[in-house]
Amino acid sequence: MVSPELFAPTEHEALIRFRHVYKVYRIAETGVVALGGVDLDVAAGEFLAVVGPSGAGKSTILNLIGGLDRASAGSVEVDGRDLGLMGIDELTHHRAARIGFVWQGTARNLVPYLTVRENVRLPAAVDPRGALGRRHDPDELVRLVGLGDRLRHTPGMLSGGEQQRAAVAVALANTPAILLADEPTAELDSESAAAVLEAFRAVNREFGVTIVMVTHDLGAARAADRRIRVRDGRQLHDGTAVAPLGRDGRVRLPDEAVAALGDGELEAEISPDEVRLRRRNETGDA
Ligand SMILES: Nc1ncnc2c1ncn2[C@@H]1O[C@H](COP(=O)(O)OP(=O)(O)OP(=O)(O)O)[C@@H](O)[C@H]1O
Ligand SMILES: [Mg+2]
Repeated sequence: MVSPELFAPTEHEALIRFRHVYKVYRIAETGVVALGGVDLDVAAGEFLAVVGPSGAGKSTILNLIGGLDRASAGSVEVDGRDLGLMGIDELTHHRAARIGFVWQGTARNLVPYLTVRENVRLPAAVDPRGALGRRHDPDELVRLVGLGDRLRHTPGMLSGGEQQRAAVAVALANTPAILLADEPTAELDSESAAAVLEAFRAVNREFGVTIVMVTHDLGAARAADRRIRVRDGRQLHDGTAVAPLGRDGRVRLPDEAVAALGDGELEAEISPDEVRLRRRNETGDA
């Protein structure tokens, strides 16, 4: 059994720290490189979006943080503890006590024959003596995600967006320090997606829970405090998502970008999934 004090946050340390993390999946004789040397620090209380194309390694990053999988090389630390050095029991405790998951498919997050209230109470039911620590009041959690009037509904009576908000409440029932979300808005229309993102922001603000959210959707990524982009298993850089292309074909840049680029002459480098702007005659990151 792992004592909870081992997980006490260490000051001045990132809550989540990846150092040169590689993940190679072996299929028969060949290896598939899912992550090719990712360095990443996530501060406690941060809301981070991980964006990138399909197959880039985004879900792999979540699986490593959650202890569902182990790095092939490099280290993944949570609260200063190297998950690669933990035994199975410790890793299971890490997952149960520190991590909440919201999966992409709405069907995977909720027990279909239980009401919203019962779903949120379920984690307490499997840990009746509170070995996993203090808990939030389930009804308060449901209200925080905007479903106070849906407590007695079963998932089948809820919209996809409402189901995902209920999933956020379930994921937080054991007061995890970290909430991992894999494409939480992928199946939703923009209005439902906005409500789900508002639920993330609310729990981030109210409970200081650290959120790592994987998404293809740059609109969803804009809701986070910070974005990183992965492609082909490599972390490219922190990106700033800008407003979608307007009808006039113009893009509005964030004020900081306008300030940084000044009124000099600019050039753009355009590739399939990003556009980089820089001052003419300058090299490197703009
Ligand atoms: N269990 C596995 N066995 C073999 N290869 C895997 C396994 N899981 C992932 N991969 C491979 O690793 C790479 C990264 O996968 P990952 O699921 O992290 O991508 P992703 O960015 O989440 O993609 P998507 O947006 O489609 O969900 C892919 O090439 C994938 O095929
Ligand atoms: Mg994925």
